[in-house]
Amino acid sequence: MKIAMIGTGYVGLVSGVCFSDFGHEVVCVDKDPEKIAMLERGEVPIYEPGLDVLMAKNVEAGRLSFTLDLAEAIKGAQAVFIAVGTPTRRGDGHADLTYVMVAAEEIARTADHYMVIVIKSTVPVGTNQQVKQAVKKANPNLEFDVASNPEFLREGAAIEDFMKPDRVVVGVQNERAAEVMAEIYRPLYLRDFPIVTTDLESAEMIKYAANAFLATKITFINEIAALCERVGADVKQVSKGMGMDGRIGNKFLHAGPGYGGSCFPKDTKALARIGQDHSVPMHITETVISVNEEVKRRMVDKLLDLCDGSFNGKTIGILGVTFKPNTDDMRDAPALTLVPALVGGGAKVRVTDPQGRHEGEALLPGVHWVEDAYKAAQNADLLVILTEWNEFRALDLKKLARKMATPRLADLRNIYSVKDAKRAGFEAYDSIGRAGFVKADD
Ligand SMILES: NC(=O)c1ccc[n+]([C@@H]2O[C@H](COP(=O)([O-])OP(=O)(O)OC[C@H]3O[C@@H](n4cnc5c(N)ncnc54)[C@H](O)[C@@H]3O)[C@@H](O)[C@H]2O)c1
Repeated sequence: MKIAMIGTGYVGLVSGVCFSDFGHEVVCVDKDPEKIAMLERGEVPIYEPGLDVLMAKNVEAGRLSFTLDLAEAIKGAQAVFIAVGTPTRRGDGHADLTYVMVAAEEIARTADHYMVIVIKSTVPVGTNQQVKQAVKKANPNLEFDVASNPEFLREGAAIEDFMKPDRVVVGVQNERAAEVMAEIYRPLYLRDFPIVTTDLESAEMIKYAANAFLATKITFINEIAALCERVGADVKQVSKGMGMDGRIGNKFLHAGPGYGGSCFPKDTKALARIGQDHSVPMHITETVISVNEEVKRRMVDKLLDLCDGSFNGKTIGILGVTFKPNTDDMRDAPALTLVPALVGGGAKVRVTDPQGRHEGEALLPGVHWVEDAYKAAQNADLLVILTEWNEFRALDLKKLARKMATPRLADLRNIYSVKDAKRAGFEAYDSIGRAGFVKADD
């Protein structure tokens, strides 16, 4: 089957590459000439483990190509996926559907045969219908269907998630569109991965409900962590004990510096907004959004405590700035709240991240980028672990402590322990939801 994929970002490129690996003929389109030029040279514009190899294999096999020309891409395609961004609209929290609607209109202008227009972007309930009306209006003679196919992949594990999904959600209005979607996902269906077929509106809602639920789970454990610090409990033990309950599950129960990333912040805001528009306030989601902001602010206070109440004149090393490991994505990363607070407070900030520099340089002005954790620690007054990249999980803590002016560690991912820090010669250590220590108190 021929498939066109509009948008070659984290979702579009991974989906396009994986569909071509299923054996389909895939043409990926983007309006960004720099991205298409890179892809045509065989370079991957984003960091996603394994994507370069899979992409090269399918280009080589002649199943995968890239173009700026949407009309060319959709020629003969039975399905056209829209996988463009739906960021938060400035000012009101709504999902900005401009890119989706522009893509839909571009399809309508050039399509001349039956196709299914599949919306993979995360969009508010009603958007598929809106796209249907817009295409109908722009090209009344076109025979087409719309389908909703929200994506659940996680950056950093995107290929695995796409190839071995917990489920695929497909929202359709008729059998004809259902058949095209079944054909696209046949390789997964044959391997017994569940395909959940729904109406358009339910498919759209599933994506927001799932993301808001996961954001709630993270925020819940972050709030419990704050209480643990006050009452002397250890949140790692608490989440382990909770997560073993099959009704709760152990995923998304790791306390940290607040959720970020390209999805949770914008999707929770959009869901809250959809609720307000329909006079069904999403009280839980609204609270999650504000508690998450509090969590991030609390991190600044934590670091301030470790700097004796002032960042001014301090040298602070930051390990990791991407919103999670194994991605170069910096969208809404906690680093974007924390690092400016340090720089604004007069600290000299040294940053290292295995993949974050390319994006981070423009987003974090006034910091000095270094190659590794040991360079970040040189003469520093405080070291902060902000993203749990593998290379920060097995640091030589003794070596780090020796390099620092005042060896203090803020472990915002709970990788190490008070015992580890003391043994390595740190004079202060703090983490999330567990007791820390300061040498004078010892
Ligand atoms: N990133 C994730 O982990 C993730 C996971 C699940 C769902 N989603 C959803 O998938 C959608 C895409 O997210 P993303 O992170 O891949 O976005 P992204 O910003 O990385 O990529 C979007 C791409 O679309 C291109 N584009 C925009 N308008 C276009 C047009 N008219 N024609 C051709 N190209 C166009 C842009 O140039 C860009 O390359 C969003 O709705 C997002 O919420 C993202």
